[in-house]
Amino acid sequence: MKKLGLLMLAVLMISLSSCGGDDANKAKDTANEAVENTQKAADQATETKEDAAKATEDAAQKAEDQVQETAAADVDGKSLFTNNGCIACHQVDKKTVGPGLKEIATAYAGKKDDMVKFLKGEGKAIVDPAQFATMKPNLEITKKMNDAQVGAIADYILSVK
Ligand code: HEC
Repeated sequence: MKKLGLLMLAVLMISLSSCGGDDANKAKDTANEAVENTQKAADQATETKEDAAKATEDAAQKAEDQVQETAAADVDGKSLFTNNGCIACHQVDKKTVGPGLKEIATAYAGKKDDMVKFLKGEGKAIVDPAQFATMKPNLEITKKMNDAQVGAIADYILSVK
């Protein structure tokens, strides 16, 4: 609106100046300047608006990245394995209370779905069935996990070589 007013003022001054003379030319210059300044101000406003939009976009992206990081941390199979006490009975490459992870990985090679079933309490022990009673209580932990978490644990065990 302000811009329109200035433009009209400029047009008025330019038409007045058509009477000729130095004063008229001066008025014309002033009018032209006013038009230029209005344009500059408008450009600056657009720039500020663009900056603000960019900042909002950046913040949104950052928030999204953080959410993804948190989700990834939740389904880190190795951390789940360590933080839920599995590590107490399962070493990587030697049998302790339970079979080593390498032994489990070998038994379940190419059978991730079966391991997920076992951890959900829906499958049978294939590694050391005679010792299943020792493992059984731990299924109460894995049964409470969501699919992504159980899948991540299975992926972790199968990744051990
Ligand atoms: C108290 C010791 C102990 C803890 C703690 C333990 N396990 Fe076990 N686990 C065993 C024993 C013993 C076996 C061998 C018996 C068997 O094969 O089921 C076993 C077997 C397994 C197997 C092979 C199953 C099969 O088909 O034979 C998987 C997979 C497994 N454990 C995963 C886990 C996970 C995941 C955790 C943590 C939530 C865990 N274990 C915690 C003792 C334990």
